[in-house]
Amino acid sequence: MAKWFGRCPECQAWGTLEEVGVPRAALTRVAAGLPSSPARPIAEVDIEAAKARRTGVPELDRVLGGGLVPGAVVLLAGEPGVGKSTLLLEVAYRWAARDGEYGPTLYVTGEESAGQVRLRAERTGNVHGSMFLAAESDVSALIGHVDAVKPGMLVVDSVQTMSSPAVDGAPGGVTQVRAVTAALVALAKERALPVLLVGHVTKDGSIAGPRVLEHLVDVVLHFEGDRHSSLRMLRGVKNRFGPADEVGCFELVESGIVGVPDPSGLFLNKRDVGVPGTAVTVAVEGKRPLLGEVQALVSKSPLGTPRRAVSGLDSARVAMVLAVLERRGGVRLGDADVFAATVGGMKIPEPAADLAIALAVATAARDVALPPDLVVLGEVGLAGEVRRVSGVKARLTEAMRLGFTKALIPPDSGDVPDGLQIRVVPDLGSAMGNLQVLR
Ligand SMILES: Nc1ncnc2c1ncn2[C@@H]1O[C@H](COP(=O)(O)OP(=O)(O)OP(=O)(O)O)[C@@H](O)[C@H]1O
Ligand SMILES: [Mg+2]
Repeated sequence: MAKWFGRCPECQAWGTLEEVGVPRAALTRVAAGLPSSPARPIAEVDIEAAKARRTGVPELDRVLGGGLVPGAVVLLAGEPGVGKSTLLLEVAYRWAARDGEYGPTLYVTGEESAGQVRLRAERTGNVHGSMFLAAESDVSALIGHVDAVKPGMLVVDSVQTMSSPAVDGAPGGVTQVRAVTAALVALAKERALPVLLVGHVTKDGSIAGPRVLEHLVDVVLHFEGDRHSSLRMLRGVKNRFGPADEVGCFELVESGIVGVPDPSGLFLNKRDVGVPGTAVTVAVEGKRPLLGEVQALVSKSPLGTPRRAVSGLDSARVAMVLAVLERRGGVRLGDADVFAATVGGMKIPEPAADLAIALAVATAARDVALPPDLVVLGEVGLAGEVRRVSGVKARLTEAMRLGFTKALIPPDSGDVPDGLQIRVVPDLGSAMGNLQVLR
């Protein structure tokens, strides 16, 4: 850093500093080198080779923004046992099944023996003549396999089990994982080969986990799901070639993994009559509107400090909504146990579900029921006001598609679809007032 000093910072004397020459190495001339390929007018650059190719698993293609781009490195991160290997085996199979189009697939596993992977593939029906399998944990051997098979797609399960003897550190350590990923990225770019990498994350977001790799790869996908539910969500976290906020839905079944193109109905209990303590809302996952049901139970507590138990919802938001309900809505909950949950393992952390939580708890406390064909949208503020949420039109359109006919929505919601019976509720009081009217 070059900066003028009038006074010596050491001895505080003025005018004693002398200017000396700045090294000029940065200014030396660089001779022209040989271009790897000549620059061309942009309109003449070939785009066919860079276009996304469908993997054959539509829910994955949706998250990728169309498919796999040649040379793209995709990191699939997830907790142990969530189904990463099952998903990628399915992808490898679908791709191989179109061998004529994009070449065979190579699945390299460092986690299991080739025999174990074959057993899984037999169980899930993912065996194909153009699928090649290798059990390997050395990166240079892996590249050797790529040279031999010349695949159109490479799966590496997992990046933590691969290592390079040329690099220090234990396999799975930060240095190794970085080196392995860098080698695979170079391989992918050099051969325009799409590479799918499995990365493990632990509950505490392990050190050598995918976090340190996120900037090295082109696409980062998170595979998530509840241990007790078979539903899995594939979330785009980063995507250089497409949208990063898409969500794919899968279900783990005995025979492998299947895409769920229309997950909305999974989180609802379809009924003909309303039940006290339930309210239906529309959450947004990525760009997908998803209907979800909030259930609440309020019962007199035998304890000095009543219980508050929450599942699938944000517990801090539920606590806030309960306080607002008590103070602004006149629902007494002080000596009651309150339980609030979603249905089917769905997670709704969004504030847009506040009003549904409030109405589920209020109807549970008063033992009245909302109409079964009503959806509720709105964030609840501390003053009891019902605030705007985003994408009201898309949410209501999805609700209509699933047969809902009535909606409570916040003021200033913009455009709403025709054909719904809509009531705008500016605050919690008016939402509660509407309960009688709507029945
Ligand atoms: N024979 C089987 N029948 C039914 N389900 C099975 C069978 N074997 C495994 N599974 C289920 O498949 C799920 C996904 O397993 P998978 O190996 O794909 O997960 P993973 O994310 O690759 O795990 P890991 O991080 O340990 O490699 C597991 O939760 C398991 O319960
Ligand atoms: Mg696995």
